[in-house]
Amino acid sequence: MQNRSKILLQNFENFLQNHLPVAKSFHPTYQKALHEMFQAGGKRFRPLILLHVVDTYEPLLIPGANFIAAGIEMLHTYSLIHDDLPTFDDAPLRRGAPTLHVSYDEVTATLVGDALNSHSFYMIGDAPLDADIKVRLIKELALNGGAEGMVLGQAIDCYFENKKLNIDELTFLHIHKTAKLIAVSLKMGAIIVGLDSTYEDLLYEIGLKIGLLFQVQDDIIDVTLSDEEAGKTTSNDANKNSFTNLLGMNGALEEKQKLIDEIEEMIEKLDEKLALKLQSMINYYFK
Ligand code: IPE
Ligand code: IPE
Ligand code: MG
Ligand code: MG
Ligand code: MG
Repeated sequence: MQNRSKILLQNFENFLQNHLPVAKSFHPTYQKALHEMFQAGGKRFRPLILLHVVDTYEPLLIPGANFIAAGIEMLHTYSLIHDDLPTFDDAPLRRGAPTLHVSYDEVTATLVGDALNSHSFYMIGDAPLDADIKVRLIKELALNGGAEGMVLGQAIDCYFENKKLNIDELTFLHIHKTAKLIAVSLKMGAIIVGLDSTYEDLLYEIGLKIGLLFQVQDDIIDVTLSDEEAGKTTSNDANKNSFTNLLGMNGALEEKQKLIDEIEEMIEKLDEKLALKLQSMINYYFK
């Protein structure tokens, strides 16, 4: 990983750990449960791509951007906590730790997810950025992470277990479930630094491709890595419309390479500085 990525990541991690929701009460475990999945680990991929966009154009805005990156990470973490619940994917391991419904109970896991979903928007509201920019960021995260984005993807993912989708439907599923939150992370970086709308759109389109690549790799991980290696429950997608189930392992590997090629072509349209940073992230996470 590039040095600048490491610095952004470490700085973000400190910020995140200091800005987890504080909810002291006489409840014996609620606050601990609220913090647990952030302390367990996670790649922080979405925060890092947002921070790289901001760092390229307005490094002085990084302190404000950390609030937004933390909001995205909270929404993503909520999605994982709910994704692991017995009624979704029924997974006992996440980020190398037992999932919240295992350590505590399903009520706690559901409510921690709910709290993090709300708190992600609190973080944006609390950021030291212009109010009109924050309104745009809130709308973008709500659309891409919520009803028209990740939640729709999860609805399709779960409803169509054991029912095979066609290739267009498979793409629609994963665009919504995973790619939109990754795409909007890049776009929100562009909004923070005030890039023009065609550049915002270009970053979003590149982000959708990176998001699909991310899910193809995630589906390959489910088949090829152990729980210990992945830090999460694997061999768990037998009933899913995963890329590996629908295309076969070779087909999924070909799709992965095709997406990398397309992304690298699109990245060339970006300013060189940003292109280099995104390229190094692609190399680090996907090669
Ligand atoms: C896993 O996300 C769920 C998908 C959208 C594929 P990550 O692979 O980003 O999980 P963490 O945040 O690193 O734990
Ligand atoms: C979940 O996809 C994507 C989310 C929106 C949370 P997966 O179900 O494939 O993610 P993992 O493999 O459990 O991390
Ligand atoms: Mg799932
Ligand atoms: Mg899952
Ligand atoms: Mg998966």
